[in-house]
Amino acid sequence: MEEGDEQLSKPSTLRWKILRNALLSRPPSQSDAKSESREIINRISRKGKGNQSFNLIPCHLHQISSTEVQGLTMDACYCYSLPTSIAASNLFLYQRKDNCASITDFEICNKNDIDNTGVVCPWPSEEILSYYCLSHADMFRSKSIIELGAGYGLGGLVIAAASEASEVVISDGNPQVIEYIQRSIAANSEAFGSTVVTSQLLHWNKEDIETLSHKFDFIVASDCTFFKEFHKGLVQTLKSLLKDSGFSEAIFFSPKRGDSLDKFLEEITEAGLTYCISEKYNERVWKSHQELMKGDQSWPNYETDHCYPLLLKISR
Ligand SMILES: C[S@@+](CC[C@H](N)C(=O)[O-])C[C@H]1O[C@@H](n2cnc3c(N)ncnc32)[C@H](O)[C@@H]1O
Repeated sequence: MEEGDEQLSKPSTLRWKILRNALLSRPPSQSDAKSESREIINRISRKGKGNQSFNLIPCHLHQISSTEVQGLTMDACYCYSLPTSIAASNLFLYQRKDNCASITDFEICNKNDIDNTGVVCPWPSEEILSYYCLSHADMFRSKSIIELGAGYGLGGLVIAAASEASEVVISDGNPQVIEYIQRSIAANSEAFGSTVVTSQLLHWNKEDIETLSHKFDFIVASDCTFFKEFHKGLVQTLKSLLKDSGFSEAIFFSPKRGDSLDKFLEEITEAGLTYCISEKYNERVWKSHQELMKGDQSWPNYETDHCYPLLLKISR
């Protein structure tokens, strides 16, 4: 979101604006509504064209069978080709077609006190989280991992397919997103080897996470620090999920986006957790960032504050 834009700082305000545009944007003549919707989405995290904003993991639209398509006209399946030598190098992700929204989305969001950003698209930071986890697949061997605010869950699926983790839980607070994650888990089950992969509805301000408490070696998340009203809940969730003793770490990728990341860091410190933050965490990602800063047609409104995710590692 833009700094100082109080009108758009509430998820509910944002939701209703997107809903208004979704309803208005049916015929092509309503292009004004479409571009306004685009602008709102850009304010959350300025997104590039397509799903490969940093051009790290190639992906293409995958043809889904006619039986799958029936009744699912708003859905698409993307095939991500993992740049790795492991056997299962293709991952299939079910997600919404670009610019598709329905009234039901917003009813579900309001009922569950959640925003619809997980349904809008996979955000650029998720690609970076996935690429980073691929590059460090060894560290997940025999470990228990949970992804928070996973959206379509590319990061969790990549860890499950490319590492020999013992368990990967892919979570989000939006029940609609969970349905997509479940379909993707089923579609890729053969790629996971002996890793147990599950989805979990987990809302940072609500869910009782007793059964998940203090059991994860790694917690991963991307682009989850932009709404300040969820900072406290997210930090408490982290505190509950990190192990009480021994190594246990959260790996977050988040653009700075005005003061929202700084405010999140204040909450981390207040809760007695520690963190370290880095800007240059991967040579290829840094190079891609430098190229985009020079100006690139694939992502015309690219700029550091809203688009380039910093790596944040959090522990006790
Ligand atoms: C900007 S999206 C990022 C999604 C995904 N990580 C990505 O980068 O593509 C934020 C995600 O956090 C989830 N979320 C927002 N508030 C939440 C909350 N209070 N509890 C759990 N999930 C939440 C949303 O449903 C959404 O999937």
